Amino acid sequence: MTEAQAALMDRMYRPQRRIYDLTRKHYLLGRDETIDALSPTPGTHVLEICCGTGRNLIRASRLYPQARFYGVDISSVMLDEARAKAAGSQSAAPIVFAEGDATDFDAQALFGVARFERIFISYALSMIPAWRAALAHAFDLLTPEGELHVVDFGDQAGLPLWFRVALAKWLACFHVTPRGELASEFAAQAQARGLAHRHEAMYRGYAFHEAAAPRRG
Ligand SMILES: C[S@@+](CC[C@H](N)C(=O)[O-])C[C@H]1O[C@@H](n2cnc3c(N)ncnc32)[C@H](O)[C@@H]1O
Repeated sequence: MTEAQAALMDRMYRPQRRIYDLTRKHYLLGRDETIDALSPTPGTHVLEICCGTGRNLIRASRLYPQARFYGVDISSVMLDEARAKAAGSQSAAPIVFAEGDATDFDAQALFGVARFERIFISYALSMIPAWRAALAHAFDLLTPEGELHVVDFGDQAGLPLWFRVALAKWLACFHVTPRGELASEFAAQAQARGLAHRHEAMYRGYAFHEAAAPRRG
């Protein structure tokens, strides 16, 4: 699966990578709110799984210059773009990028870090066939105090039917399948690990933000 998925992503993103950030800002909604919710303390290790062009990590590194940032993606084309953008940006904190499959990468081997206090996945579970396994792997990489955040397409419940149908057709052109069971699967995996879970529907259900953290008190 890894090689086929890597080849598919490289093929799709090679012609798009220069316009990716410009175009996606109009429809990958909720990413900035998710980054705002991370609020890592100084020294915190922050990992984005499926980091794409590095857009989110660069933004996060400006917001939280005393944290440490890591990004993994299966596409070497996207990672080339991410490294170039990070090198040319004013990001205050260095970002380490590495190639890996979200379902089974070895964080210790890639980054020299085995567990992370903050992990986020933005608009990627909807592109990964084995998305439940990718989610489970992300949970496994959390420190005991760690938080996992996922933002992705929601159920569109507050939006008109014609919009939902058109969006689904259009997303299929990009190998994107909104996960109807994202919220329930996230809740189940969080509960299985004894974590508290928060679900937020944004933009009338266009996007879902799922968050898991240790129970307090
Ligand atoms: C829609 S882009 C989102 C990029 C970024 N997270 C953002 O919010 O702009 C999805 C990304 O997931 C990556 N991806 C897809 N399948 C993957 C997998 N199995 N493992 C790691 N990355 C994967 C793609 O290469 C692509 O960069």
